Amino acid sequence: MATHAADAFTVQTVKPLIGAVVDTSREALLAGTHAEEIRQLLDERGVLVFPKVHFTDEEQVQFTRTLGNFVPEMHGDIFKISMDKAVNPQADYVKGAFYWHIDGTMQQVPLFASMLTARKLAPEGGNTEFCNTYAAWDALPEGEKERLKDLRVVHSLVAAQLYVEPEPTLAEFEGWSRLGTNELPLVWEHKSGRKSLVLGSTAEYVVDMDPVESRRLLIRLREWATQAQFSLSHKWELGDAVIWDNTGTMHRAMAYPLDCDRQMHRTKLEGEEAFV
Ligand code: OGA
Ligand code: MN
Repeated sequence: MATHAADAFTVQTVKPLIGAVVDTSREALLAGTHAEEIRQLLDERGVLVFPKVHFTDEEQVQFTRTLGNFVPEMHGDIFKISMDKAVNPQADYVKGAFYWHIDGTMQQVPLFASMLTARKLAPEGGNTEFCNTYAAWDALPEGEKERLKDLRVVHSLVAAQLYVEPEPTLAEFEGWSRLGTNELPLVWEHKSGRKSLVLGSTAEYVVDMDPVESRRLLIRLREWATQAQFSLSHKWELGDAVIWDNTGTMHRAMAYPLDCDRQMHRTKLEGEEAFV
């Protein structure tokens, strides 16, 4: 692990419209010394990489807490992302992460941010990709913004799970349906005045639009938002920590062998703003 002067804090942009690599000491991260700058950077860059900081679970929780209101996972402070059912009984649900999504579109207030740390790497594949949905909105032609700005989209777990299991049993379908639907704006105007696109695998249809047109629009906008200039692919090194602004990005895991023991530990920060 690199050593740093106590006050070192350097930031390197990954791409003009997304991502930054933050180089500072783990002690400073744990003490919250740069918490304000990190919050600001998260807003501006969408995704922050802290290379090879090698947090323990307790340290990951401690660092996460410096940045906002910590949200525990269902079974403890940390969620272990793994396809091994002995490690993570919800492995099937994790497969949804292979498709572009925002965490928490079934809630009125989605998570502000999520953090992953790499504990076991996949032998091949397993990058995590991110795209900046603020930048994607900003770059749309004005006429298109005008046509899109008031559209509403119905989101459901059913839509997301159909990517994973396109031919479910009725019982599976009924299980997913229990979560119901959530109608969200296509264009989210944040308190800051900035706007972002709300898309992802839970997006089922655009309200009051012909079904084929609706599908065409959702696919076209996903393709637009995930173009190279708005996105980055993080190739994990053991011990990396990555945090993303879940309100202004989408993300997905790239394919990796399902029988490998890739393991990421996740912590979360509470949402601070409802979709409007
Ligand atoms: C998540 C997620 C992606 C990955 O934890 O919410 O989507 O690469 N993870 O594991
Ligand atoms: Mn996710």
